[in-house]
Order: sequence, then structure tokens, then C-alpha cells
Amino acid sequence: MKFFVDTADVEAIAELNELGMVDGVTTNPSLILKSGRDILEVTREICGIVSGPVSAEVVALKADDMIAEGRKLAKIADNIAVKVPLTWDGLKACKVLTGEGNMVNVTLCFSVNQALLAAKAGATFVSPFIGRLDDINADGMELIADIRRIYDNYGFETRILAASIRSVNHMSQAALIGADVATAPPKVIKAMANHPLTDKGLDGFLKDWAKTGQKIL
Ligand code: G3P
Repeated sequence: MKFFVDTADVEAIAELNELGMVDGVTTNPSLILKSGRDILEVTREICGIVSGPVSAEVVALKADDMIAEGRKLAKIADNIAVKVPLTWDGLKACKVLTGEGNMVNVTLCFSVNQALLAAKAGATFVSPFIGRLDDINADGMELIADIRRIYDNYGFETRILAASIRSVNHMSQAALIGADVATAPPKVIKAMANHPLTDKGLDGFLKDWAKTGQKIL
């Protein structure tokens, strides 16, 4: 499973990228707001750090306007994936923008039918939002599993990008199901390293080491 980092925080992206943890980046208007940066400027900077796909989201609602915005965003760098919402107009924009050779990430997907349409429209990525489904007492992970099954049934090449990931369990479950990509905030990716038995074991080793009176360096 590829790891995308769901942020427009350049420092956090650079830190994870140095460890080889970043296969791509996803942003959205809320994350741009949080960064306090200009969308074109920060996206260009991110594309200079990360070689994988960097999603930049359109904000227009009509297909023609989305296409114009998508073309402008795609000019930022070769690794831009234009993000469009999963609406009828978004699907039209997806078809045109992928036809022009751009990567397109169809976002705000909450059902298997929406995911089917994204694949038919030639989306490079579809982004089902796990956490937001869990928020309304639905099962976000079940949606990932259902889309996986349907895409495999028919050989659709659209990649499943599990989004709205809020916990380390979301990451492991998405990987078990076979999501192609998971996009998560930096703090979730870093938290994957944590285990109480690791901390406990390390504590025991260090106490015993102190008793030996030895030094390695
Ligand atoms: O990738 C989409 C993501 O940014 C949404 O996450 O936590 O706002 O539902 P969240």
C-alpha cells in the first residue's frame, strides 16, 4: 500500500519524505486554509519535495470551470493530480482532464455507486472517506472492501485511495483490505511506530544496560 500524506504542511512532508514514507501528498481547501499559504505557491513547493502524485483540489462547481481550474493546477508540476468532487460535473471534468493526460483524484466518495462512476469516468484515484462515514455511524472500512471487490470483479484500473483516515487502525485495516493507497495526517503515520510493549521492552533493556556499567561509544 502506498502512503500519501494528507497535509499542506511542508515541514511535516519533508520530514516524512526523508524516511521514505511519502509516496504522494493530498491536499484540500481545508488543509490549504490550515497551512495559511497560497495554494499555487505551497503546492509548487510540495511538488519540489515529493516525486509522487500531489493532489490539488478545484473549488468550482460547474464542469467547465473545474476543467479551467484543473488545467491551471496541472501546470504547477508534472506530478499534480487534479482533485475534483464526486458530483456529475466533477465526473465530466474528470473525463476531460484525464483525456488530456492529467492524473485525476475524484474525492468525497461515500458509496460504491459513486466509486463505480469514478472508474467509468477514467479516474486515476478515487477517494472514499472512511472517517466521515464512521462519524455518521456507517462503516467506512466496509466501503473500502466493497469498492475493492467491485473494481477487482471488472478489472477497473482506478486506484482506491483510502482517505479521511483518523487512526492507526484505519491504516492497518485499509492495507489488509487491499486499498492501493492510504492518505493520512502526519501524526497518524508517525503513531504507527508506537507500541506499549516496545516502550516497556526498551525501558527494561536500558535499566539492565545501566547495571553493566558499559558504554558502546
Ligand atoms: O483526504 C481527505 C481528508 O483530508 C479528510 O479528512 O479527517 O477531514 O475527514 P477528514
